[in-house]
Amino acid sequence: MKVLVTGAGGTLGRAVLPRLRADGFAVRAMSRRPRHDPGADWVVADLDTGAGLAGAVAGADAVLHLASLPGGGARTHRVDVLGTRRLAVAATSAGVGHLLYVSIVGVDRVPYPYYRHKLAAEQVVAAGPVPWTVLRATQFPPFLDRLLRTMSRLGPVIGDPGVLAQPVDQHEVAGRLAERLTAGPVNGIEEYGGPQVLRFDDAVRAWRAARGGYRPLLPVRFPGRLGRELRAGGLTTTATPTGKRTWADHLADTYGGTGQR
Ligand SMILES: NC(=O)c1ccc[n+]([C@@H]2O[C@H](COP(=O)([O-])OP(=O)(O)OC[C@H]3O[C@@H](n4cnc5c(N)ncnc54)[C@H](OP(=O)(O)O)[C@@H]3O)[C@@H](O)[C@H]2O)c1
Repeated sequence: MKVLVTGAGGTLGRAVLPRLRADGFAVRAMSRRPRHDPGADWVVADLDTGAGLAGAVAGADAVLHLASLPGGGARTHRVDVLGTRRLAVAATSAGVGHLLYVSIVGVDRVPYPYYRHKLAAEQVVAAGPVPWTVLRATQFPPFLDRLLRTMSRLGPVIGDPGVLAQPVDQHEVAGRLAERLTAGPVNGIEEYGGPQVLRFDDAVRAWRAARGGYRPLLPVRFPGRLGRELRAGGLTTTATPTGKRTWADHLADTYGGTGQR
């Protein structure tokens, strides 16, 4: 099966490419700029302008759509919503048999501006004629790690201790996506999360211990509906199966026992 992977150079894309190749898929990888990797056939295309999309999807049996521009502003709308529509139109013309879109657990509950665009993109995928699957995943550990580093730049980590998260290893998400491609479209939404639901304060404590640093948590209570949804588990899922690798596994892999900062 020939698969076009959008966003192939991103965090998830870099986990997906080797997994799909190992499983015997013929992989075409899409980026906005020329890339060279002997293991993949890279094509240049841009969801924002549509340039290169028709060529990128030509001959593909399935499209695994990972590309996204987080932020939540007008550019996110152009890339995530209008760009997904452009991709779906190109996939329809090319006779693609499965459009598999990666979304985020909670896009239908948590009122982040970015999530509104992800939900709208899901609806574009579901409304189109190409048979589809949406896989909503929880947060990838490198994303949480980056978030904590950014939040602690000024000293303490500022956050709501009661927010719940369920990090899932992006390599395990890649494995799940490979399974979904093999199984074929379900014309529905599935969810995939990590093995543990963690409170934010516990996640920060483990992160701090792994890094051997001192970054106190400055607790703030997120207000309004956003805070309520995040504390009520809006970013978590009860779906099974789950991934196996924990936040602690990620921290051990990343920081080892050296306590480096
Ligand atoms: N990060 C998480 O924790 C998480 C959790 C659940 C679900 N997800 C979803 O999983 C997907 C992948 O996430 P990720 O963390 O791997 O994202 P990422 O590292 O930010 O990669 C996203 C990719 O999108 C591509 N892109 C951006 N604008 C584009 C445009 N105009 N045209 C074509 N490609 C464009 C970029 O590729 P180039 O720069 O190479 O063009 C970039 O590599 C996203 O849909 C995200 O919403 C993420």
